Amino acid sequence: MICKSWPENLGPILCIVGARPNFMKMAPILRALAGHSPAIPSLLIHTGQHYDRDMNDRLFEDLRLPRPDINLEVGSGTHAVQTAEVMKRFEPVIDESRPSCILVVGDVNSTLACTLVGVKKGIPVAHVEAGLRSFDRGMPEEINRVLTDQVADLLYTSERSALDNLLHEGVSQARVEFVGNVMIDSLMANRELARRPADILDAAGFDGSVAASPAGYAVVTLHRPSNVDQEETLRPLLETLREASERLPLIFALHPRTRGNIERFGLGDLVAGKRIVLLPPQGYLEMLGLMSSARLVLTDSGGMQEETTALGIPCLTMRENTERPITVEQGTNTLVGRDRRAILAGVTEIVASGGKRGRIPELWDGHTAERIASHLAGWLIARIGEGAKT
Ligand code: UD1
Repeated sequence: MICKSWPENLGPILCIVGARPNFMKMAPILRALAGHSPAIPSLLIHTGQHYDRDMNDRLFEDLRLPRPDINLEVGSGTHAVQTAEVMKRFEPVIDESRPSCILVVGDVNSTLACTLVGVKKGIPVAHVEAGLRSFDRGMPEEINRVLTDQVADLLYTSERSALDNLLHEGVSQARVEFVGNVMIDSLMANRELARRPADILDAAGFDGSVAASPAGYAVVTLHRPSNVDQEETLRPLLETLREASERLPLIFALHPRTRGNIERFGLGDLVAGKRIVLLPPQGYLEMLGLMSSARLVLTDSGGMQEETTALGIPCLTMRENTERPITVEQGTNTLVGRDRRAILAGVTEIVASGGKRGRIPELWDGHTAERIASHLAGWLIARIGEGAKT
Protein backbone atom coordinates (compact mmCIF):
# COMPACT_ATOMS: atom_id res chain seq x y z
CA MET A 1 0.00 0.00 0.00
CA ILE A 2 1.45 3.39 -0.97
CA CYS A 3 0.43 6.40 1.15
CA LYS A 4 1.44 10.06 1.00
CA SER A 5 1.56 10.60 4.73
CA TRP A 6 2.04 8.29 7.69
CA PRO A 7 -1.34 6.84 8.77
CA GLU A 8 -2.77 8.76 11.74
CA ASN A 9 -3.69 5.59 13.58
CA LEU A 10 -0.07 4.40 13.62
CA GLY A 11 1.83 5.81 16.56
CA PRO A 12 5.55 6.52 16.65
CA ILE A 13 8.23 3.86 16.57
CA LEU A 14 10.06 3.79 19.89
CA CYS A 15 13.76 3.40 19.06
CA ILE A 16 15.68 2.04 22.03
CA VAL A 17 19.33 2.63 22.86
CA GLY A 18 21.07 1.76 26.11
CA ALA A 19 24.75 1.05 25.77
CA ARG A 20 27.63 2.15 23.59
CA PRO A 21 27.33 -0.49 20.84
CA ASN A 22 23.70 0.50 20.24
CA PHE A 23 24.45 4.06 19.19
CA MET A 24 26.18 3.33 15.88
CA LYS A 25 23.35 0.98 14.94
CA MET A 26 20.53 3.37 15.75
CA ALA A 27 21.97 6.55 14.15
CA PRO A 28 21.43 5.42 10.52
CA ILE A 29 18.05 3.88 11.38
CA LEU A 30 16.73 7.17 12.79
CA ARG A 31 17.87 8.97 9.67
CA ALA A 32 16.28 6.35 7.42
CA LEU A 33 12.94 6.54 9.27
CA ALA A 34 12.90 10.33 8.92
CA GLY A 35 13.99 10.15 5.28
CA HIS A 36 11.44 7.50 4.32
CA SER A 37 8.52 8.56 2.15
CA PRO A 38 6.24 9.10 3.97
CA ALA A 39 8.38 10.06 6.97
CA ILE A 40 7.95 7.55 9.80
CA PRO A 41 7.54 9.19 13.21
CA SER A 42 9.93 7.95 15.87
CA LEU A 43 10.99 8.71 19.43
CA LEU A 44 14.49 8.01 20.69
CA ILE A 45 14.43 6.36 24.12
CA HIS A 46 17.72 6.07 26.02
CA THR A 47 17.63 3.67 28.94
CA GLY A 48 20.73 5.29 30.48
CA GLN A 49 22.59 1.95 30.82
CA HIS A 50 25.71 3.81 29.66
CA TYR A 51 25.79 7.37 30.90
CA ASP A 52 29.23 8.97 31.18
CA ARG A 53 30.94 11.26 28.72
CA ASP A 54 33.34 8.63 27.38
CA MET A 55 30.77 5.87 27.00
CA ASN A 56 27.86 8.02 25.88
CA ASP A 57 28.01 11.75 25.14
CA ARG A 58 30.98 11.68 22.77
CA LEU A 59 29.37 8.95 20.69
CA PHE A 60 26.12 10.91 20.45
CA GLU A 61 28.07 13.90 19.16
CA ASP A 62 30.20 11.89 16.71
CA LEU A 63 27.24 10.02 15.28
CA ARG A 64 25.11 13.19 15.14
CA LEU A 65 22.41 11.44 17.12
CA PRO A 66 19.59 13.70 18.31
CA ARG A 67 19.16 14.16 22.05
CA PRO A 68 16.99 11.32 23.34
CA ASP A 69 13.33 12.25 23.66
CA ILE A 70 13.26 10.34 26.94
CA ASN A 71 16.11 9.14 29.17
CA LEU A 72 15.23 6.46 31.72
CA GLU A 73 18.51 7.04 33.59
CA VAL A 74 18.85 3.50 34.93
CA GLY A 75 22.66 3.61 35.27
CA SER A 76 24.79 0.70 36.46
CA GLY A 77 23.72 -2.30 38.53
CA THR A 78 23.67 -6.07 38.55
CA HIS A 79 22.05 -7.66 35.52
CA ALA A 80 18.85 -8.24 37.47
CA VAL A 81 18.69 -4.69 38.81
CA GLN A 82 19.58 -3.07 35.49
CA THR A 83 17.09 -5.18 33.51
CA ALA A 84 14.33 -4.73 36.07
CA GLU A 85 14.85 -0.95 36.31
CA VAL A 86 14.63 -0.58 32.53
CA MET A 87 11.42 -2.62 32.49
CA LYS A 88 9.82 -0.62 35.30
CA ARG A 89 10.71 2.74 33.81
CA PHE A 90 9.89 1.82 30.21
CA GLU A 91 6.34 0.62 30.80
CA PRO A 92 4.84 4.10 31.44
CA VAL A 93 6.59 5.39 28.30
CA ILE A 94 4.58 2.90 26.26
CA ASP A 95 1.36 3.91 28.02
CA GLU A 96 1.96 7.57 27.25
CA SER A 97 3.32 7.39 23.71
CA ARG A 98 1.07 4.62 22.30
CA PRO A 99 3.69 3.39 19.81
CA SER A 100 3.05 1.37 16.67
CA CYS A 101 6.23 -0.58 17.25
CA ILE A 102 9.34 -0.87 19.42
CA LEU A 103 12.65 -1.14 17.63
CA VAL A 104 15.58 -2.67 19.52
CA VAL A 105 19.14 -3.33 18.36
CA GLY A 106 21.92 -5.68 19.42
CA ASP A 107 22.15 -7.73 22.58
CA VAL A 108 22.56 -5.57 25.66
CA ASN A 109 20.40 -5.73 28.77
CA SER A 110 18.29 -2.80 27.53
CA THR A 111 17.48 -4.73 24.34
CA LEU A 112 15.93 -7.61 26.24
CA ALA A 113 14.26 -5.47 28.90
CA CYS A 114 12.38 -3.26 26.41
CA THR A 115 11.46 -6.27 24.27
CA LEU A 116 9.85 -8.03 27.23
CA VAL A 117 7.84 -4.97 28.22
CA GLY A 118 6.71 -4.38 24.64
CA VAL A 119 5.56 -7.90 23.79
CA LYS A 120 3.70 -8.26 27.09
CA LYS A 121 1.79 -5.09 26.31
CA GLY A 122 0.94 -6.33 22.82
CA ILE A 123 3.19 -3.87 20.98
CA PRO A 124 5.10 -5.36 18.04
CA VAL A 125 8.87 -5.49 18.54
CA ALA A 126 11.44 -5.40 15.73
CA HIS A 127 14.94 -6.65 16.54
CA VAL A 128 17.87 -5.45 14.44
CA GLU A 129 20.90 -7.79 14.41
CA ALA A 130 18.78 -10.85 15.17
CA GLY A 131 19.89 -14.47 15.03
CA LEU A 132 23.57 -14.06 15.90
CA ARG A 133 24.70 -16.88 18.21
CA SER A 134 27.96 -17.63 19.97
CA PHE A 135 26.39 -20.81 21.44
CA ASP A 136 27.97 -19.76 24.72
CA ARG A 137 25.21 -19.35 27.31
CA GLY A 138 27.81 -18.05 29.77
CA MET A 139 27.75 -14.73 27.89
CA PRO A 140 25.06 -12.34 29.14
CA GLU A 141 24.65 -11.10 25.56
CA GLU A 142 23.81 -14.62 24.32
CA ILE A 143 20.95 -14.86 26.81
CA ASN A 144 19.70 -11.45 25.66
CA ARG A 145 19.90 -12.51 22.01
CA VAL A 146 18.12 -15.86 22.41
CA LEU A 147 15.28 -14.47 24.50
CA THR A 148 14.75 -11.35 22.41
CA ASP A 149 14.52 -13.38 19.20
CA GLN A 150 12.04 -15.85 20.69
CA VAL A 151 9.46 -13.15 21.36
CA ALA A 152 10.12 -10.29 18.93
CA ASP A 153 7.79 -10.02 15.93
CA LEU A 154 10.28 -8.97 13.26
CA LEU A 155 13.84 -10.21 13.09
CA TYR A 156 16.25 -8.27 10.88
CA THR A 157 19.44 -10.20 10.20
CA SER A 158 22.91 -9.03 9.26
CA GLU A 159 24.38 -12.26 7.87
CA ARG A 160 22.78 -15.35 6.37
CA SER A 161 23.94 -17.75 9.11
CA ALA A 162 21.52 -15.99 11.45
CA LEU A 163 18.50 -17.49 9.66
CA ASP A 164 19.78 -21.04 10.23
CA ASN A 165 20.23 -20.28 13.93
CA LEU A 166 16.70 -18.92 14.19
CA LEU A 167 15.11 -21.82 12.29
CA HIS A 168 16.99 -24.20 14.56
CA GLU A 169 15.34 -22.51 17.55
CA GLY A 170 11.91 -22.99 16.04
CA VAL A 171 11.42 -19.41 14.82
CA SER A 172 9.19 -19.07 11.76
CA GLN A 173 11.00 -17.86 8.65
CA ALA A 174 8.11 -15.45 8.03
CA ARG A 175 9.41 -13.29 10.91
CA VAL A 176 12.93 -13.05 9.47
CA GLU A 177 14.24 -10.53 6.94
CA PHE A 178 17.87 -10.42 5.77
CA VAL A 179 18.71 -6.72 5.49
CA GLY A 180 22.51 -6.56 5.98
CA ASN A 181 24.64 -4.87 8.60
CA VAL A 182 23.53 -1.49 9.89
CA MET A 183 26.86 -0.89 11.70
CA ILE A 184 28.43 -0.66 8.29
CA ASP A 185 26.00 2.13 7.34
CA SER A 186 27.53 4.19 10.14
CA LEU A 187 31.05 3.22 9.19
CA MET A 188 30.56 4.25 5.58
CA ALA A 189 28.80 7.49 6.49
CA ASN A 190 31.63 8.52 8.83
CA ARG A 191 34.78 7.18 7.21
CA GLU A 192 35.78 10.53 5.77
CA LEU A 193 35.35 12.18 9.16
CA ALA A 194 37.55 9.72 11.07
CA ARG A 195 40.21 11.41 13.23
CA ARG A 196 43.94 11.05 12.53
CA PRO A 197 45.73 8.70 14.96
CA ALA A 198 48.63 11.13 15.54
CA ASP A 199 46.15 13.87 16.50
CA ILE A 200 44.32 11.52 18.88
CA LEU A 201 47.55 10.62 20.67
CA ASP A 202 48.75 14.24 20.78
CA ALA A 203 45.41 15.34 22.22
CA ALA A 204 45.67 12.63 24.91
CA GLY A 205 49.16 13.89 25.87
CA PHE A 206 51.13 11.04 24.22
CA ASP A 207 53.83 11.16 21.61
CA GLY A 208 51.89 11.10 18.33
CA SER A 209 54.85 9.45 16.59
CA VAL A 210 53.83 6.07 18.10
CA ALA A 211 51.19 6.05 15.39
CA ALA A 212 53.93 6.39 12.79
CA SER A 213 56.14 3.55 14.10
CA PRO A 214 57.67 1.58 11.17
CA ALA A 215 56.04 -1.66 12.38
CA GLY A 216 52.71 0.15 12.64
CA TYR A 217 50.61 -0.24 15.76
CA ALA A 218 47.88 -2.48 17.10
CA VAL A 219 44.61 -1.24 18.56
CA VAL A 220 43.51 -3.18 21.65
CA THR A 221 40.17 -3.33 23.43
CA LEU A 222 39.12 -5.79 26.11
CA HIS A 223 35.98 -5.73 28.21
CA ARG A 224 34.12 -9.06 28.18
CA PRO A 225 33.41 -10.15 31.76
CA SER A 226 34.83 -13.62 30.90
CA ASN A 227 38.18 -11.98 30.03
CA VAL A 228 38.49 -9.21 32.59
CA ASP A 229 36.51 -10.05 35.72
CA GLN A 230 38.90 -12.66 37.21
CA GLU A 231 42.50 -11.98 38.04
CA GLU A 232 43.54 -15.51 36.88
CA THR A 233 42.27 -14.61 33.40
CA LEU A 234 43.12 -10.94 33.16
CA ARG A 235 46.71 -11.24 34.39
CA PRO A 236 47.91 -13.75 31.73
CA LEU A 237 46.06 -11.84 29.02
CA LEU A 238 47.81 -8.61 29.97
CA GLU A 239 51.14 -10.46 30.17
CA THR A 240 50.58 -11.72 26.64
CA LEU A 241 49.66 -8.25 25.43
CA ARG A 242 52.85 -6.95 27.01
CA GLU A 243 54.83 -9.54 25.03
CA ALA A 244 52.95 -8.56 21.88
CA SER A 245 53.95 -4.94 22.49
CA GLU A 246 57.59 -5.95 21.92
CA ARG A 247 56.62 -6.63 18.30
CA LEU A 248 54.63 -3.47 17.72
CA PRO A 249 53.28 -0.68 19.93
CA LEU A 250 49.79 -1.09 21.33
CA ILE A 251 47.14 1.59 21.60
CA PHE A 252 44.82 0.24 24.30
CA ALA A 253 41.44 1.95 24.79
CA LEU A 254 40.39 0.93 28.29
CA HIS A 255 36.75 0.17 29.06
CA PRO A 256 35.71 1.27 32.59
CA ARG A 257 35.15 -2.34 33.62
CA THR A 258 38.70 -3.28 32.56
CA ARG A 259 40.30 -0.19 34.08
CA GLY A 260 38.52 -0.89 37.36
CA ASN A 261 39.69 -4.51 37.41
CA ILE A 262 43.29 -3.64 36.53
CA GLU A 263 43.30 -1.31 39.54
CA ARG A 264 41.51 -3.79 41.81
CA PHE A 265 43.94 -6.62 41.01
CA GLY A 266 47.02 -4.33 41.07
CA LEU A 267 47.98 -5.13 37.45
CA GLY A 268 48.90 -1.58 36.40
CA ASP A 269 52.58 -2.45 35.89
CA LEU A 270 51.69 -4.87 33.11
CA VAL A 271 50.25 -2.09 30.98
CA ALA A 272 52.81 0.58 31.87
CA GLY A 273 55.67 1.57 29.61
CA LYS A 274 56.41 3.33 26.36
CA ARG A 275 55.08 0.64 24.03
CA ILE A 276 51.58 0.55 25.49
CA VAL A 277 49.54 3.72 25.18
CA LEU A 278 46.54 3.64 27.51
CA LEU A 279 43.59 5.73 26.40
CA PRO A 280 40.13 6.20 27.87
CA PRO A 281 37.18 4.77 25.88
CA GLN A 282 37.33 6.49 22.53
CA GLY A 283 34.74 8.42 20.57
CA TYR A 284 33.37 6.84 17.40
CA LEU A 285 35.43 8.97 15.00
CA GLU A 286 38.58 8.39 17.05
CA MET A 287 38.13 4.62 17.09
CA LEU A 288 37.37 4.61 13.37
CA GLY A 289 40.57 6.57 12.72
CA LEU A 290 42.66 4.35 15.00
CA MET A 291 41.34 1.14 13.42
CA SER A 292 41.59 2.38 9.82
CA SER A 293 45.34 3.00 10.10
CA ALA A 294 46.21 0.07 12.39
CA ARG A 295 48.35 -2.87 11.40
CA LEU A 296 45.97 -5.06 13.36
CA VAL A 297 43.26 -5.00 15.99
CA LEU A 298 43.21 -7.21 19.09
CA THR A 299 39.78 -7.24 20.68
CA ASP A 300 36.97 -9.14 22.37
CA SER A 301 34.31 -6.73 21.08
CA GLY A 302 31.53 -7.93 18.78
CA GLY A 303 31.21 -4.79 16.69
CA MET A 304 34.93 -4.35 16.07
CA GLN A 305 35.10 -7.80 14.46
CA GLU A 306 32.64 -6.47 11.88
CA GLU A 307 34.21 -3.04 11.49
CA THR A 308 37.68 -4.48 10.85
CA THR A 309 36.20 -6.81 8.22
CA ALA A 310 34.58 -3.83 6.51
CA LEU A 311 37.85 -1.85 6.72
CA GLY A 312 40.04 -4.77 5.55
CA ILE A 313 42.18 -4.59 8.72
CA PRO A 314 43.26 -7.93 10.29
CA CYS A 315 41.54 -8.68 13.59
CA LEU A 316 42.59 -11.16 16.28
CA THR A 317 39.60 -11.88 18.50
CA MET A 318 40.48 -12.86 22.05
CA ARG A 319 37.49 -15.17 22.43
CA GLU A 320 36.90 -18.89 21.89
CA ASN A 321 33.81 -18.24 19.77
CA THR A 322 32.11 -15.59 17.73
CA GLU A 323 28.45 -14.90 17.05
CA ARG A 324 29.62 -13.27 13.79
CA PRO A 325 31.11 -16.23 11.86
CA ILE A 326 31.06 -14.38 8.55
CA THR A 327 33.90 -12.17 9.80
CA VAL A 328 36.08 -15.30 10.06
CA GLU A 329 34.80 -17.05 6.93
CA GLN A 330 34.86 -14.05 4.59
CA GLY A 331 36.41 -11.20 6.54
CA THR A 332 39.69 -10.44 8.27
CA ASN A 333 38.92 -12.01 11.65
CA THR A 334 40.79 -14.87 13.37
CA LEU A 335 39.76 -16.36 16.72
CA VAL A 336 42.78 -16.67 19.02
CA GLY A 337 41.01 -17.13 22.35
CA ARG A 338 43.11 -16.39 25.41
CA ASP A 339 45.91 -18.66 24.30
CA ARG A 340 49.28 -16.92 24.63
CA ARG A 341 50.86 -18.82 21.77
CA ALA A 342 47.96 -18.29 19.39
CA ILE A 343 47.81 -14.56 20.16
CA LEU A 344 51.55 -14.04 19.69
CA ALA A 345 51.67 -16.24 16.58
CA GLY A 346 48.80 -14.23 15.11
CA VAL A 347 50.55 -10.94 15.81
CA THR A 348 53.86 -12.18 14.38
CA GLU A 349 52.17 -13.49 11.25
CA ILE A 350 50.33 -10.24 10.60
CA VAL A 351 53.44 -8.13 11.23
CA ALA A 352 55.42 -10.37 8.82
CA SER A 353 52.92 -10.89 6.03
CA GLY A 354 50.05 -8.44 6.45
CA GLY A 355 47.44 -11.04 7.54
CA LYS A 356 44.00 -11.79 6.13
CA ARG A 357 42.63 -9.43 3.50
CA GLY A 358 39.09 -10.76 3.38
CA ARG A 359 36.15 -9.42 1.44
CA ILE A 360 33.07 -7.41 2.31
CA PRO A 361 30.07 -9.66 3.12
CA GLU A 362 26.76 -9.54 1.27
CA LEU A 363 24.61 -6.45 1.97
CA TRP A 364 27.23 -4.73 4.13
CA ASP A 365 26.78 -1.92 1.66
CA GLY A 366 25.75 1.16 3.65
CA HIS A 367 22.03 0.85 2.82
CA THR A 368 20.77 -1.48 5.53
CA ALA A 369 18.88 1.19 7.48
CA GLU A 370 16.90 2.14 4.36
CA ARG A 371 15.94 -1.51 3.84
CA ILE A 372 14.79 -1.71 7.46
CA ALA A 373 12.71 1.48 7.21
CA SER A 374 11.04 0.40 4.02
CA HIS A 375 10.28 -3.14 5.22
CA LEU A 376 9.02 -1.96 8.60
CA ALA A 377 6.77 0.69 7.06
CA GLY A 378 5.24 -1.89 4.70
CA TRP A 379 4.74 -4.37 7.53
CA LEU A 380 3.09 -1.86 9.88
CA ILE A 381 0.79 -0.47 7.21
CA ALA A 382 -0.21 -3.97 6.05
CA ARG A 383 -0.92 -4.86 9.67
CA ILE A 384 -3.45 -2.06 10.14
CA GLY A 385 -4.96 -3.11 6.81
CA GLU A 386 -5.38 -6.64 8.18
CA GLY A 387 -6.84 -5.21 11.41
CA ALA A 388 -9.41 -3.21 9.42
CA LYS A 389 -10.55 -6.34 7.59
CA THR A 390 -11.20 -8.34 10.76
C1 UD1 B 1 27.67 -3.58 28.03
C2 UD1 B 1 26.97 -4.70 27.25
C3 UD1 B 1 27.96 -5.33 26.26
C4 UD1 B 1 28.63 -4.29 25.42
C5 UD1 B 1 29.28 -3.25 26.31
C6 UD1 B 1 29.98 -2.15 25.54
C7 UD1 B 1 25.23 -5.93 28.48
C8 UD1 B 1 24.92 -7.23 29.13
N1 UD1 B 1 26.50 -5.76 28.12
O1 UD1 B 1 28.65 -4.21 28.84
O2 UD1 B 1 27.26 -6.23 25.44
O3 UD1 B 1 29.61 -4.91 24.61
O4 UD1 B 1 28.26 -2.68 27.12
O5 UD1 B 1 30.54 -1.22 26.37
O6 UD1 B 1 24.33 -5.13 28.32
N2 UD1 B 1 30.28 2.16 33.39
C9 UD1 B 1 30.85 3.40 33.42
N3 UD1 B 1 30.33 4.37 32.63
C10 UD1 B 1 29.29 4.14 31.81
C11 UD1 B 1 28.72 2.85 31.77
C12 UD1 B 1 29.24 1.86 32.55
O7 UD1 B 1 31.79 3.65 34.14
O8 UD1 B 1 28.84 5.06 31.11
C13 UD1 B 1 30.82 1.09 34.22
C14 UD1 B 1 29.74 0.48 35.11
O9 UD1 B 1 29.63 1.14 36.32
C15 UD1 B 1 30.21 -0.93 35.25
C16 UD1 B 1 30.98 -1.21 33.97
O10 UD1 B 1 31.28 0.05 33.39
O11 UD1 B 1 31.09 -1.07 36.33
C17 UD1 B 1 30.20 -2.08 33.06
O12 UD1 B 1 29.02 -1.43 32.52
P1 UD1 B 1 27.72 -2.28 32.09
O13 UD1 B 1 26.76 -1.43 31.36
O14 UD1 B 1 27.27 -3.06 33.26
O15 UD1 B 1 28.21 -3.37 31.09
P2 UD1 B 1 29.36 -3.39 30.01
O16 UD1 B 1 30.45 -4.25 30.53
O17 UD1 B 1 29.71 -2.01 29.53
